[in-house]
Amino acid sequence: MSDFTQKKIDYKQYVVDSQLRYFKPHATKIEKSFAEEISFSLTQNFKFISPKFFYDKKGSNLFESICLLPEYYPTRTEISILKKLKDDLPSYLDENIQLVELGSGASVKTRLLLDIFTRLQTKTEYFPIDISEILTESSEQLLRDYDTLHITGIIDTYEGGLEFLKNYDEKKNLIIFLGSSYGNFTPDDGKLFLEKIFSTMKSGDLFLIGLDLVKDENILESAYDDSQGITAKFNLNVLSRINDELDADFNIDNFSHYSIYNKDDQRIEMNLKSLVSQSIIIGKSNLSLNLNKGELIHTEYSHKYKLSQITELLNCAGFQIKHTWLDDDSYFSVTLASKN
Ligand code: AVI
Repeated sequence: MSDFTQKKIDYKQYVVDSQLRYFKPHATKIEKSFAEEISFSLTQNFKFISPKFFYDKKGSNLFESICLLPEYYPTRTEISILKKLKDDLPSYLDENIQLVELGSGASVKTRLLLDIFTRLQTKTEYFPIDISEILTESSEQLLRDYDTLHITGIIDTYEGGLEFLKNYDEKKNLIIFLGSSYGNFTPDDGKLFLEKIFSTMKSGDLFLIGLDLVKDENILESAYDDSQGITAKFNLNVLSRINDELDADFNIDNFSHYSIYNKDDQRIEMNLKSLVSQSIIIGKSNLSLNLNKGELIHTEYSHKYKLSQITELLNCAGFQIKHTWLDDDSYFSVTLASKN
């Protein structure tokens, strides 16, 4: 173990072997606890639960199942686009460019990019950034399959990890942010996040973002309300998580999954609907919550974009667009942008 200090934030380095190490900040930054966030978000006029709380162990597994559903086109469609990149992307990559992923992956998508990098390079450097230590498991799986891969995992927020990398070395990075995860931000938070990415990029760095596109309403609505009820389970699971972790007494049978496409705002809006008038105690948040029959708790936005809006979003944050790839049905997009 050794230490690495950057801009007054200390990271502890854990070296597993010559191909694998992790950095983790010494002190956890001051963030509101789960209990505090829930106590705030469920006492607003517009009651909500942040979608980041979906992803406990069970929620993450349910999300994996969603990605395989026939109705949930985004994952397989983005994969089909990434497969096309093997011919086009290399011309944008210089010899020593490193791969940085927001989110950790041993997934098919990460592998498609690693296939491109390892074919071009004798040594490939990959930096997954994830707040969760799950990163350690996925890294080990990747190293079993790629001999020339070197992984430096950063267990931190995306912003913290990007800031860390800015000062880490002089090499160029391709930063990837896939799966239309950007669409889960509110528009204001999303803009700030893009500006943050842009400001942490060095000259010559590249950014690859996968975004879902506006399409027929029925296709969108069934992608977020599938016939097997997996998305419903995923949504309702956040209440079970609050029961388990915050000593609450939500009766899951008293709620239903309610998801609609808001055409004006171009987004799926996912909610939990209270089926009865009820009171819930959330012990660790010191909260007694009253819900009317039919009242909604908002849980997620999933924004969909027109190509012109993607150009505008990226240009407004300072990026220059290099190329946009689409699938055959124009359901999904993958855009490569640069700092200059
Ligand atoms: C992670 N995120 C991009 C997914 C989406 O499509 O917005 C989460 C999701 N929610 C319901 N289904 C999938």
